[in-house]
Amino acid sequence: MSQFDVVVIGAGPGGYIAAIRAAQLGFKTACIDAGVNKAGDAPALGGTCLNVGCIPSKALLQSSEHFHAAQHDFAEHGVQVAGVSFDAAKMIERKDGIVSKLTGGIAFLFKKNKVESLHGKGSFKGKNGDLWQIEVDNRGERSMVEAKHVIVATGSVPRPLPLVEVDNVNVLDNEGALNLTEVPKKLGVIGSGVIGLEMGSVWKRVGAEVTILEAAPVFMGAADQQIAKEAFKIFTKEQGLNIELGVKINEINNNADGVTVKYELGGEVKTETFDKLIVAIGRVPNTEGLNAEAVGLAKDERGFIQVNEVCQTNLPNVWAIGDVVRGPMLAHKASDEGVAVAERIAGQQPHLDFNTIPWVIYTDPEIAWVGKTEEQLKAEGVAYKKGTSGFAANGRALGLGKAKGTVKVLADAETDRILGVHMIGPMVSELVAEGVMGMEFKASSEDIARIVHAHPTLSEVLHEAALAADKRALHG
Ligand code: FAD
Ligand code: NAI
Repeated sequence: MSQFDVVVIGAGPGGYIAAIRAAQLGFKTACIDAGVNKAGDAPALGGTCLNVGCIPSKALLQSSEHFHAAQHDFAEHGVQVAGVSFDAAKMIERKDGIVSKLTGGIAFLFKKNKVESLHGKGSFKGKNGDLWQIEVDNRGERSMVEAKHVIVATGSVPRPLPLVEVDNVNVLDNEGALNLTEVPKKLGVIGSGVIGLEMGSVWKRVGAEVTILEAAPVFMGAADQQIAKEAFKIFTKEQGLNIELGVKINEINNNADGVTVKYELGGEVKTETFDKLIVAIGRVPNTEGLNAEAVGLAKDERGFIQVNEVCQTNLPNVWAIGDVVRGPMLAHKASDEGVAVAERIAGQQPHLDFNTIPWVIYTDPEIAWVGKTEEQLKAEGVAYKKGTSGFAANGRALGLGKAKGTVKVLADAETDRILGVHMIGPMVSELVAEGVMGMEFKASSEDIARIVHAHPTLSEVLHEAALAADKRALHG
């Protein structure tokens, strides 16, 4: 039987990074993963993120943005294009190519770092002295490994909607939404969260009529509401996404004519039939098949593996990271927890600050933030000041033809320490890193205001917002 210092279960961005870091630190490491490729005929590392999440969705967002730009934006640059057409199958093929390249890249990194990659489902079997015994089930072929430390990184799966079953033909989860080879005429989306907005944008740009049905009365409740309101206006009024808030879904029928959804909105009962329906109402932790109960691995009431602030579970030398534990379900959060756990096993004292984990929504314009929203600061009774600046007069944004959006800097009223940075605009997925860096280094808004920002760049809008926080905006 093979024995390891560290066995990681799951090779998503949490698990594969934990395994690489553990191996780099000198531990004999194995990573067990059950993931398979789209065809279902070969192992595919990388978890949700690489196979059916972050990476494929961003590929489709880019392709659909190009198509939309060719139709609507090129002309103002003097670029005339005639007969623009769209090939959904080609877009999916390109996306699949990027996915295989990156998932294959992890197999390469495992070899390079001497991580033993074991394909199959990992489950707890018991203990042999102080070693944990983990069974690996590769389609019925069973083997056992033993390890001093186990890191559980089994991720998450889509939250099911009891009213309908996902068949990934007409009723789609994220996997199905990323694999349509024809543009649906009418697309329904349940949930205006991150997946709903990103996938709704993709299929809207390439010609679908998109209706998003959201239960919450408020749009993007977790985001700063000034930014959320601006986003809502752009998505609905300018881009034509039909977003209904405060909806109660009563019934869904998946039949030959399409998917019929009966719902209530403002006291009225409505019925809509869609060609395809995406269900994106959140994700739940995945502990299926892990045999957690047999060894007494504790979960909370929502099914997340219970961990303390450094990802220790209730069992000695068993750790858990990423989507299967509390905190935001984001790839970079999973990876950073993976690094931190490997380093902690090595006796180091790493620290991960949840308040500086950035969020990005890759719509157009993009939305990004770090730290506290204005609503949170008000609720916590924190005295703050704010500075905002827009992209409308930013030279780079105008040149790009993407001069929409706002950056807002929130800082402590007394100390000027940055408490939050919120953005909607072009490439703010990149710009938010400056806010994260500032907050990690406990910068004040004056620090950002006094740093030289290249001209003309999008970053000048953040600079200007920081100046505005101190009431000395130069272009405001
Ligand atoms: P996962 O990536 O879910 O990986 C878990 C792995 O464990 C899987 O390979 C699974 O097969 C394997 N596994 C499970 N159980 C077992 C077992 N018993 N034995 C062996 N293997 C097992 N996040 C971002 O930060 N940015 C984005 O742009 C972004 N876009 C997204 C888009 C979509 C459509 C979706 C669905 C998610 C997106 N996310 C994004 C979220 C991101 O994908 C997750 O936060 C991230 O993948 C979590 O990583 P993880 O390692 O915890 O788990
Ligand atoms: P989400 O939590 O972002 O949004 C789900 C939405 O569905 C919420 O607005 C919720 O109010 C709504 N909802 C719940 N039940 C409903 C019902 N019965 N009827 C109508 N609406 C209902 O979840 P989503 O979009 O499924 O994404 C899952 C997670 O994946 C995200 O929370 C995020 O962590 C991750 N993700 C991250 C991305 C990024 O970082 N860019 C992109 C996509 C996903």
